[in-house]
Amino acid sequence: MILNVVGARPNFMKMAPLVLELQRRGLPQLFVHTGQHYDERMSQVFFDELGMPRPDLDLGVGSGSHAEQTARVMVAFERVLVERRPALVVVAGDVNSTLACALVAAKLEVAVAHLEAGLRSFDRRMPEEVNRVLTDHLAELLFVTEPSGLANLEREGIDARRVAFVGNTMIDSLVSHRERALAREPWRAYGLEPGGYGLVTLHRPSNVDDSAMAAEIARGLAGVAEELPLLFPIHPRTRERSGELFSRIAGLRLVEPLGYLEFLGLMARARLVLTDSGGIQEETTALGVPCLTLRENTERPVTLSEGTNRLVALEARAIQEAARAPRPGATRAPALWDGCAAARVVDRLEEFLAR
Ligand code: UD1
Repeated sequence: MILNVVGARPNFMKMAPLVLELQRRGLPQLFVHTGQHYDERMSQVFFDELGMPRPDLDLGVGSGSHAEQTARVMVAFERVLVERRPALVVVAGDVNSTLACALVAAKLEVAVAHLEAGLRSFDRRMPEEVNRVLTDHLAELLFVTEPSGLANLEREGIDARRVAFVGNTMIDSLVSHRERALAREPWRAYGLEPGGYGLVTLHRPSNVDDSAMAAEIARGLAGVAEELPLLFPIHPRTRERSGELFSRIAGLRLVEPLGYLEFLGLMARARLVLTDSGGIQEETTALGVPCLTLRENTERPVTLSEGTNRLVALEARAIQEAARAPRPGATRAPALWDGCAAARVVDRLEEFLAR
């Protein structure tokens, strides 16, 4: 049996195509949610919209410090593994749940497969970077989304026989749902025109927990909003830490976190996306929509070299200038971002289980 783990919002769109492909091929699986994200809008809504089954188990770990959250996932997940004894555990991305479950599985000698392996920002101040590096070194099977991942893993001495460049399962989700998302014309509900607005997301601790940094970014957004209406579905952490600051900007509208289809539709017709997310850098590249990433680095360099992404200095002036001259939308998707990544992953999983 294959055990698939999700924990936080960005895991869902990466895991859905895999869960569905396993189902299609009739392979037995157990689907576990750690409960790292628990709000209806951060979690449940995605299962329905992505057409995937509800998790078989929800460990209900919730929020906490890094140690508390990681430890709670580990304790609860160990019980599941001891009881269910899967042949393989699949984890995705770089959230605390990813590392916690990979570590438990490795200690119980259950093989780990990592979706989205090999990405590196080379910035250890990011909790996600620590999670990525450690998860990759625990994994038996490493599924890479872009060529940089192959080079990074080789440099770290990981046996190339464990590594497979399969493309991007998150883009499988995008390809499957883009038309349905557009058909909803989600911009209308906000009185916006296609191509006539910018979409904003911010949640990284380095941007929103530090009030001086958040204030600088807010000044930048205020300048952009003078020329282009901005819509900002605000993450609960951002609302808690610096919501007040963003709520005072004229021309910027704060809304609750959105479902997958609504967000995808809005992203596809935005003139511009401003974000500090990882996944959105890739989704905008796949959609050909200009993206300004408010970070010093990216672990997804293919979005810079082949896509529509651009890193922007965390200064109000730089943000405003970049928004006036974003990179034009690209017409070519990166290699293997073709909607068929999950099928390639499952081919490999079947091969592995047959051994
Ligand atoms: C996590 C991931 C990050 C990912 C992001 C996507 C880690 C280390 N970080 O960050 O990589 O990009 O998810 O959203 O795993 N909260 C709620 N409701 C929820 C979830 C969170 O209110 O359903 C609030 C709580 O105040 C919580 C805070 O958000 O303390 C942070 O949540 P947490 O899961 O620790 O990390 P994220 O910032 O969401």
